[in-house]
Amino acid sequence: MSSGRSQIWRRRTTFWIRAGLILFIVIFVWVQVSFVDFGGSVSTYSDINDSQAAILSMVPVVLHKFLAPKPKNMTNIGLNGSYNNLGYYKASLNISDIKRNIAQYNLQQTVYNEDLFGPLQNDSIVIVIQIHDRITYLRHLIVSLAQARDISQALIVFSHDYYDEEINNLVQSVDFCKVIQIFYPYSIQTHPHEFPGEDPSDCPRDMKKDKALKVKCNNALYPDLYGHYREAKFTQTKHHWWWKVNRVFNQLEVTRNHTGLVLFLEEDHYVAEDFIHILRLMERTCKDACRHCNILSLGTYLKTYNYYGDSKKREALRAKQKTKKKFADVQPSWTFQVLPSLYQHPQKVEITPWISSKHNMGMAFNRSTWNGIVRCAAYFCKYDDYNWDWSLQHISQNCLKQKLHAMVARGPRVFHIGECGVHHKKNNCGSTAVISKVQQVLKSAKRHLYPDYLILNLATVLKKTKLRKGNGGWGDYRDHKLCMSMTIR
Ligand SMILES: *[C@@H]1O[C@H](CO)[C@@H](O)[C@H](O)[C@H]1NC(C)=O
Ligand SMILES: *[C@@H]1O[C@H](CO)[C@@H](O)[C@H](O)[C@H]1NC(C)=O
Ligand SMILES: *[C@@H]1O[C@H](CO)[C@@H](O)[C@H](O)[C@H]1NC(C)=O
Ligand SMILES: *[C@@H]1O[C@H](CO)[C@@H](O)[C@H](O)[C@H]1NC(C)=O
Ligand SMILES: *[C@@H]1O[C@H](CO)[C@@H](O)[C@H](O)[C@H]1NC(C)=O
Ligand SMILES: *[C@@H]1O[C@H](CO)[C@@H](O)[C@H](O)[C@H]1NC(C)=O
Ligand SMILES: *[C@@H]1O[C@H](CO)[C@@H](O)[C@H](O)[C@H]1NC(C)=O
Repeated sequence: MSSGRSQIWRRRTTFWIRAGLILFIVIFVWVQVSFVDFGGSVSTYSDINDSQAAILSMVPVVLHKFLAPKPKNMTNIGLNGSYNNLGYYKASLNISDIKRNIAQYNLQQTVYNEDLFGPLQNDSIVIVIQIHDRITYLRHLIVSLAQARDISQALIVFSHDYYDEEINNLVQSVDFCKVIQIFYPYSIQTHPHEFPGEDPSDCPRDMKKDKALKVKCNNALYPDLYGHYREAKFTQTKHHWWWKVNRVFNQLEVTRNHTGLVLFLEEDHYVAEDFIHILRLMERTCKDACRHCNILSLGTYLKTYNYYGDSKKREALRAKQKTKKKFADVQPSWTFQVLPSLYQHPQKVEITPWISSKHNMGMAFNRSTWNGIVRCAAYFCKYDDYNWDWSLQHISQNCLKQKLHAMVARGPRVFHIGECGVHHKKNNCGSTAVISKVQQVLKSAKRHLYPDYLILNLATVLKKTKLRKGNGGWGDYRDHKLCMSMTIR
């Protein structure tokens, strides 16, 4: 960038000196520098038009309703509401209201749209979506689900750990398949000052154990394996995950006898329209060609959003050498690492031992796999790691008779559109650039979707994975106990 800038500077300087307008040099250089700086930071997204209008233009008009909330009727405002930053009214319920509503939802177990789409069949797909509070991503996930073929036969279970009327309205407006809502009853929202939230008498994360024992804080005896005390907000996702899987397979009236596939998604995922087709194809292929496969995965994890694509850079360098130009226009661009593999490998699947960090997105299994997992509840609940996926891997390696063996789509049918995790807020969290990119990738892959058959690829045999130490954050006996209590045997 800097050499390019001085090039321009030198060439233009000659011109201006010749013209004798020295005063303008200063102005020109200033303008040029500002321009280059501006271009540098903005052109990160230069190949994407991620304006709201552009994103909307990729969504069928009938689905715009899921993206654009209607303002609440202004004459119905109660006394204690407030307006959020978009100008929409939010009722502010107190905690006892929320607890009452949650209990009611969990008791009533209303299945919406059953009258339109009929009861759940034993070969229908159940889609369970774990939701916290990122409604913008959820809106786009719903839009993607609405466009999926055969979605009308599915049941979507929305599993919430945050009660919010705006999210409820959105979920209840889903009209393209059966829907049920379940609410994790031990959330931090409903327990702000007591376990599983943060009890004022809990030990602070960084307190040393001997000090903790002296001041007799609640959990003094139970730091994690790195010597830290529990942080409530980091425990919720694993608790919620375990609760909802138990709830769906063992308790919920509509699903507790279901024998077919259950697919697990999160609020910031986005599906390709042929994902149900692919799941069915994988299920059939397993029966014929991989009897020991017991978990399906639709996605490959996009580890980092590395916007500066190395391949683009190399391309530009080659172009530069060819044309012998002094400097080529090297625009930073998106990494196409994962995304184009959808149309390069639309029908390839890999067979591989299940690896938590790679295969935790868009995974599906049925009751027979669950029966193995739930027998190992203690391995999940007492393992000192606050990640549900690492805990599941721990089960697989140490307890399951049939280890988790995955069939994984090389061309992903689930994408991760959330740039920020639930608890890791960065600056640019509202960014819709990833959504726009995924829309475009799916559009260009359209004619490669719905393959008739799958091509199996045996993954190169991995070195025997070492037994890993957990990541900690899960040393508190109260977490172990709560987690175990969710499995009613
Ligand atoms: C982005 O797309 C919208 C709608 O398609 C269009 O109106 C707008 O001009 C585009 N902006 C850019 C910078 O291309
Ligand atoms: C708002 O609510 C009031 C009372 O419930 C009703 O009379 C009115 O028609 C509503 N207005 C709109 C625009 O829906
Ligand atoms: C408003 O909030 C106060 C306390 O925050 C509560 O006592 C009162 O019942 C609430 N009123 C309504 C109508 O929600
Ligand atoms: C919560 O609000 C309701 C009204 O919406 C009120 O009746 C109730 O007393 C409130 N409870 C507490 C604990 O503030
Ligand atoms: C699904 O139900 C049909 C009839 O309702 C039955 O014939 C079939 O065996 C069932 N399949 C499984 C896997 O339970
Ligand atoms: C599920 O199975 C149990 C016992 O096998 C039965 O009592 C119950 O009615 C079944 N539920 C549904 C929804 O089919
Ligand atoms: C459930 O998955 C297992 C493989 O894990 C498979 O053998 C079994 O047939 C499946 N059950 C049903 C009812 O599809």
